[in-house]
Amino acid sequence: SDEQTFIAIKPDGVQRGLIGPIISRFETRGYKLAAIKLISPSKEHLEKHYEDLSSKPFFPGLIKYMSSGPICAMVWEGRDAVKTGRALLGATNPLASAPGTIRGDYAIDIGRNICHGSDSIENAKKEIALWFKEGDIVEWKSAHHDWIYEK
Ligand code: CMP
Repeated sequence: SDEQTFIAIKPDGVQRGLIGPIISRFETRGYKLAAIKLISPSKEHLEKHYEDLSSKPFFPGLIKYMSSGPICAMVWEGRDAVKTGRALLGATNPLASAPGTIRGDYAIDIGRNICHGSDSIENAKKEIALWFKEGDIVEWKSAHHDWIYEK
């Protein structure tokens, strides 16, 4: 179905100059950008984003890494955007992320994995609401996307 997902380029992705290539993959696959911003979130904000992982041993390191520089936060929209978005990112575990995916092409460490994508429609809604104000989400018409979703 037509849905929105939250995609973030993490500090290592921003610092390595991968904003362009990552945006390009979502655009050329056929997704529509609905919101984008560069942000240096507070620790509290990141702890909320990752609250489900708060008991994990890697949690403090994860928050520190995510605080190490700006993050490019985005909302992408289109058919099956949550699942296909995760497929474009590739598996979290570098041993499982296939070449051709973003992580499969650019990352080798589970803790420095360049990007984040919502894992369910429910979490996408939560994450979009955490990272964006309602007025930040742009609804726009595109003949190309209308053609894709017409059927
Ligand atoms: P992400 O898709 O943002 O969702 C949770 C994040 O936790 C994940 O990407 C990784 O960055 C991080 N993570 C998951 N497992 C580990 C691990 N074993 N060690 C360090 N970081 C991890």
